[in-house]
Amino acid sequence: MRSRLLIPLAMSILANTASGEIRYIAAKKIWHIESGPVSYVLGVNERNELQPIYWGKRLWRDDDLAAAHSEREWASFDLSSTTTPQEYPGWGGGRYIEPCLKVTLPDGVRDLVLKYAAQRIEGDNLEIDLKDMAYDLAVTLHYRAFPDTGMIRKWAVIANRTNHGITLESAQAGSWTLPRGDGYRFNYLAGRWAGEWQMQQTPIHPGLQVIESRRGNTSQQANPWFAIDDGQANEQTGRIWFGALGWSGNWRLSIEQTPHQQVRVTGGFNPFDFSYPLASGEKLETPPFYAGFTEGGFGEMSRLLHRFERAHVLPGGLTSRLRPVLYNSWEATEFSVDEAGQKALAEKAAKLGVERFVMDDGWFGARNNDHAGLGDWTVNPKKFPNGLGPLIDRVNQLGMDFGIWVEPEMVNPDSDLYRKHPDWAMNFRDRPRTEARNQLDLNMARDDVKEYIFGVLDKLLGENPKIAFLKWDMNRNFSEPGWPEASPADARKLWVAYTRNVYEIIDRLRAKYPKLEIESCSGGGGRVDLGILNRTDEVWTSDNTDAFDRLRIQEGLTQAYTPKIMMDWVTDVPNFNGRSTPLQYRFLVAMTGSLGIGGNLNKWSEADMGLAARMVALYKSIRKTVQEGLLYRLFSPRSDAFSAAQYVAEDGSQSVLFAFRTAQHFGYPAPVVRLSGLDERAIYRVKTIDSKLLDKVENASGAYLMNHGLNLRLGGDFDSTAILFEKIQ
Ligand code: GLA
Repeated sequence: MRSRLLIPLAMSILANTASGEIRYIAAKKIWHIESGPVSYVLGVNERNELQPIYWGKRLWRDDDLAAAHSEREWASFDLSSTTTPQEYPGWGGGRYIEPCLKVTLPDGVRDLVLKYAAQRIEGDNLEIDLKDMAYDLAVTLHYRAFPDTGMIRKWAVIANRTNHGITLESAQAGSWTLPRGDGYRFNYLAGRWAGEWQMQQTPIHPGLQVIESRRGNTSQQANPWFAIDDGQANEQTGRIWFGALGWSGNWRLSIEQTPHQQVRVTGGFNPFDFSYPLASGEKLETPPFYAGFTEGGFGEMSRLLHRFERAHVLPGGLTSRLRPVLYNSWEATEFSVDEAGQKALAEKAAKLGVERFVMDDGWFGARNNDHAGLGDWTVNPKKFPNGLGPLIDRVNQLGMDFGIWVEPEMVNPDSDLYRKHPDWAMNFRDRPRTEARNQLDLNMARDDVKEYIFGVLDKLLGENPKIAFLKWDMNRNFSEPGWPEASPADARKLWVAYTRNVYEIIDRLRAKYPKLEIESCSGGGGRVDLGILNRTDEVWTSDNTDAFDRLRIQEGLTQAYTPKIMMDWVTDVPNFNGRSTPLQYRFLVAMTGSLGIGGNLNKWSEADMGLAARMVALYKSIRKTVQEGLLYRLFSPRSDAFSAAQYVAEDGSQSVLFAFRTAQHFGYPAPVVRLSGLDERAIYRVKTIDSKLLDKVENASGAYLMNHGLNLRLGGDFDSTAILFEKIQ
């Protein structure tokens, strides 16, 4: 995915500040959701079923649109109920496609045929009510348009209005249907611990392709995001239908090509081990499922998602502050934290211009290694004889705010909490509890556990009101997800209730401590999705901090998520994989997201400290552009020993280029770098950080920078540079 092509400026998302409207065209029983540059059309057919009609580039003429109509059957095997596209199919009536809802109704009936009942439009919101053909099982489909980016959010509320209990066996947020055809490709993110965010691409073929988590949280192995391209898309051009789920528990995305060339993506709660009883009068709300469309390739897709997340998902929206430069002491000290050692590191961090000092694991209970202490959230009196106060005060005096690591959902069997409440850990009665990193998952689905954990965190924050930031970790996945105190029928609600309760704790803490910021971490990037991002400010990208690996990891994360949330630390070398890279290279890699430092500053030389201070100052001068600008991935680290990424401020006033060269062959120079997203007619002042431009260019037109391009003097062996462009006229 190397990009030397010119990018049409018209693709810029800033040109897409289009309006939107949702219209119901009663004569044809169709809805036209205009969401800025995108149209989404659905309608009710002659059998009163809700059908998707169109999803893609905006259509301007309602008269062009025909009413929904069923498709003919294909012999006696594929009846019309399965050949006809379905917006939210129940499992029943001979529908063989992936259902959005599968239920057991009273009397053991396992047949659900949803028919249109009513609709309401209010501004950018549409609600459509469906009801089973016989039973009083109602589904309300919610749609919200976001015209600034063309994104649409769908979710469903399933209500049991019968007088009996029913059981949901699959409850999806919805499905997205692409224009009929084949040749599509499915792009997704996969990985493992220390290797998250690896972009994958595979042709879509007849049948189902599934990505999912059965682990209790979002997972490092797959992420609930998809991009389906027309088979030819690259970084700059091509049609892409993309989306993401807002859910941090078990999820599934099913990418399906039916025998009739219908391609659809169904997503929501993972039906695996799912069984959700709904008593009479009860409701279940699914997670939100967001989706968008672009003709501008993967680059424009990411820019739309970044903008959307900043405007509509992250706490505080567009008014939220830029991420401060952070220091985290984990890799320097691991569990050996104490007041004197942390203060010494804080003093050094402050000299570099760091704005937030974070103390990681090891400060509480008997936590001297990972064998004990999780669950006992009281300050360790040996390490901090006077509590956290003196350290926090010193950090504040040094001009930084203070953050602290917590892992609230976990317990070590060797802890006072576990000795007191062994039943609070997930378990199946009389069966072994599998430990991972010597710890067990608390059953956060239990309300008493939820209240206890809220109380612990509330106390920590109440007693230390200057804690500005929590790094909220979760270092294992579920095993033995039992809930012996619940009835066997209710016990599997754990999958949903756990995540809802974690969300509730975070929401209550944020409401009570409005200035508190939170980083979502799960052994690195194991809990990153639009659900957790709705209530946390940033994420820990990966425990892998090797700068060369990070180029790919970070490129993968930015496919789906804004660089603003992407925490990147500069750490010491050799890294865990044995690789050493120069300090400047490590800094520049980390500066392509939200900059942090995680090395042992006690070991940094004066020269290192000097370079680090200059890099932090440089970062502060460009961070708005990096965190809130438009990202152009010019050369992918996936396909070349050379990679480059460029960021352009939303108002066009500044741009910054980062370039990295891992290796070279035969003395060839680095490839010419042609910039993107600039104004051809404007003049830019060009500032290099280390004179690695082969041609002397002090100022240049956008036309020169984007067409002639820049020749960089980068020798290989982890050489790197950054170049700034300030628009001067
Ligand atoms: C996880 C995190 C690390 C660190 C350790 C502490 O692995 O991802 O950054 O906080 O836990 O135990």
